[in-house]
Amino acid sequence: MAESVPNGNLSFKNNRNNNKPSFVVRREKLLEQRKSLSIASVERRLVEEVQKHDVLIIVGETGSGKTTQIPQFLFDSGFCGHGKTIGVTQPRRVAAVTVAKRVAEECGVGLGQKVGYSIRFEDVTSSSTRIKYMTDGLLLREALLDPYLSRYSVIVVDEAHERTVHTDVLLGLLKKVQNVRSKYIKDHTSAGHKRASNGTILEKENADPSISVLKQCQGRKLSPLKLVIMSASLDAHIFSEYFGGAKAVRVLGRQFPVDVFYTVDPQTDYLDSAIVTIFQIHSEEAPGDILVFLTGQEEIESVEKQIHENLQRLPEEKRNMKTVTIFSSLPSEQQMRVFAPAPAGFRKVILATNIAETSVTIPGIKYVIDPGVVKARSYDPVKGMESLIIVPTSKAQAIQRSGRAGREGPGKCFRLYPESEYEKLEDSTKPEIKRCNLSNVILQLKALGVDDIFGFDFIEKPSREAIKKSLEELILLGALSDELKLSDPVGRQMARLPLDPVYSKALILGSQFKCLDEMLIAVAMLSVESMFYEPREKLDLARTAKKCFASSEGDHLTLINFLESGARKTSSIAVLCDMPVTSTVKSADTLNKWAFAFRLAEMTHFSSADALLLLFFLNAALKQPDGTYRALASGEVVQIHPTSVLFRTKADCIVFNEFVKTTNKYIRNITIIDGFWLTELAPHYYAKQD
Ligand code: CDP
Ligand code: MG
Repeated sequence: MAESVPNGNLSFKNNRNNNKPSFVVRREKLLEQRKSLSIASVERRLVEEVQKHDVLIIVGETGSGKTTQIPQFLFDSGFCGHGKTIGVTQPRRVAAVTVAKRVAEECGVGLGQKVGYSIRFEDVTSSSTRIKYMTDGLLLREALLDPYLSRYSVIVVDEAHERTVHTDVLLGLLKKVQNVRSKYIKDHTSAGHKRASNGTILEKENADPSISVLKQCQGRKLSPLKLVIMSASLDAHIFSEYFGGAKAVRVLGRQFPVDVFYTVDPQTDYLDSAIVTIFQIHSEEAPGDILVFLTGQEEIESVEKQIHENLQRLPEEKRNMKTVTIFSSLPSEQQMRVFAPAPAGFRKVILATNIAETSVTIPGIKYVIDPGVVKARSYDPVKGMESLIIVPTSKAQAIQRSGRAGREGPGKCFRLYPESEYEKLEDSTKPEIKRCNLSNVILQLKALGVDDIFGFDFIEKPSREAIKKSLEELILLGALSDELKLSDPVGRQMARLPLDPVYSKALILGSQFKCLDEMLIAVAMLSVESMFYEPREKLDLARTAKKCFASSEGDHLTLINFLESGARKTSSIAVLCDMPVTSTVKSADTLNKWAFAFRLAEMTHFSSADALLLLFFLNAALKQPDGTYRALASGEVVQIHPTSVLFRTKADCIVFNEFVKTTNKYIRNITIIDGFWLTELAPHYYAKQD
C-alpha cells in the first residue's frame, strides 16, 4: 500500500491533563498563578513582621497579590486561633465581592465558608468564616454591636490610599480599639489587679472607664488586635506617623515600562476621543486588551453602544473586539465577567470606572486609555449641599492608571489631554472626609461613644464648618439633642440602620405615620443606585415601561408603584425594561427584617406623602416665576431632572432628595407637597425662614 503523505496542519494536544477532572486542572492553575505572584516570595517575612509589630503598613504595586494573598498567609500561620477571624476592609463593594470569590476559589472552598464577604444588604458568611472581606463602612457598623471588634485577631485595612471617609473614620476607631485592647490585656496580666477569693480577676479600682465596656464583649477572650494597613501608593509616611511611627514595608511588584502618550491638542469630548483611540489601537497596535477609564454607568453604556455600532461598519475580519464593563452598580453575577479572557483572536476592551484603578486587577491589559477625569463627591458646607461632579484626576491617579498597562509586559497609556495639562494636576487626591457631608459618620461616632467630634483623633481633620453643619442637620432630624447627645431611641435607631440618616429617619417616620411598608420600599429603592435602569439600546422601551407606574404625586410614589406591581409580576417587568429588580427586592427584604427587629413595623397604611415631607423637609423647593425652583435651605436655583416623572410639573412646592450638578443644577426624586405642611410639620425649621 502506498504511503499517504498528509497535507496541512494537524492540531496536537498535550495529554498531561487528560485524566484530571476540570476542577483539579483549575486548582492547579490557580496554585501556579499564586506562586508566580511577586508577594509569594516574601510570605515568611511578611508574616514575621505582622507578628512583631502591632501595626504594619504594606505598600505594594497593584496586582502584586496584597488583597488576595496576605489574608491567606495570615490564616496559614495561625492568626485565626480560638475561632478568631481576619477582617479585610475594602472601600468598594464590588472589590469585596470579587476578591472574596477569587480567594474562596483559591482556597478550594465554597463562598461563605472559610472565606466570605459582607456588604450592605448582603452577608455571605457563616460561623466558620475566618477570612472575611467587607466594606469599611460595614466594619464601622459592626463596631456598634461589638465595640472592641473582639471577634477579629487581625484587621487589614485595604486600599488605604483611597482615603474614603469610612477608611479615615475606621483608622481612628481602630487606633482606639487597639489601645484599649492592649491596655486591658496588660492590666490583666500585670500584678496590679485584684483577685477575688475564687481567683477570678476583678477590675482595678481606677480602671479606664471605657474598659468597663469590655465586659460587654460577651465573654469573648480578648487578644491584642493586629492592624495591617495596605496601600498602593508610595506615601506611607502619613499612615506611619498617624500610628506613632509604625513600620512600613514595600512589596516590589513586577512592573514593566509603560510608554505614556498625550494628545497634541485639548479634547472637547473625551468620550468621542476615547472611542477613536480604541479603534486606533485596534487597527494599529499589537494584540493586548484595552482598559478605558470612564466616570460612571451612563458613560460606560453609551461608549459600549457606540463601539458596537462602529464595529458593525467594519469588515467582518476586523470585528474581533469584545467589550466588558465593570462599575459598582453592576449586578454581582455580571461583575465576574470582566475577568474572563476574550475568545481566541479577539481583543477585550474593558470599560471601567475608577474601580479598575487599584481595587480590582484585571489580567491581560496592555493598553490604557485615560481621559483624565473621575466622578467625585463634593460638599459645600455653607449650603449643606453634597453633589457628585466630574473632576480632573490627580497626578497620583494618572500614574496608577498608566501602571495598569505594565502588569504583564511593556504597555502603552494614552492620556486624552495634552502634557501641559498633566503638569497642572494636583499631586494627590484630597481625602473624601474633606469633601463630603459628615452626618452619617458623626452619627456613627456618637453611637460608638465618641462625644467630642471636634476632638476625635482623625488622620486628617475635616473642617469645623462641615462638622458644625452636620451636627445641625442631625439635631434637625432629631438624632441629636440640643446638647449634641445621641437621642434615645431615635438617634440610636438611626445609627443602627445602614442608611443615610435621612433615610433612617424615613423608616421611623413611616412607622409613626403608619405607612412603613411604603417607606421601606421607597428607601430600599433610593438606597440602590438608579432604580430605573435605562439601558441606551432600550431607552424607549424602558421609558414607556416606567410610565405605567408614574404617579402624579411624584417620583417616590412612582417607585412604590413600581415595586408593588413588580412584586406581583417581577419577571415580566424585569424582562421588559431590563432592571435589576432583584437587588432592590433583596434590600427591601433586609430592611424589613431590620425594621421588624426595631419593632417599628406592623402598621396599616396612612399617608406616605406626609412622611416623605417630614423626611425631606430640608430639601423643600419652591417654584419661581420663571419655572425654575429655589431650594429653601440652600437658596440654590435648580431644575427638575428630565428623568423625573414631574419633569413638566407646575407644582408650587416640592421635596426632592437628590441634587445633581452636571451642566445644570438638577434635582431628582421628587414629590409634590402642599406648602402649608412645611410650617405645620416641620415648624422648628421653617419658622426660621419667615
Ligand atoms: O491587591 P493587589 O492589587 O496587590 O493584588 P490582588 O488583588 O491580590 O491580585 C493578585 C492577582 O490575582 C492579580 O494580578 C490578578 O491577576 C489575580 N486576580 C484574578 O485573576 N481575579 C480576581 N478576581 C482577583 C485577582
Ligand atoms: Mg488590592
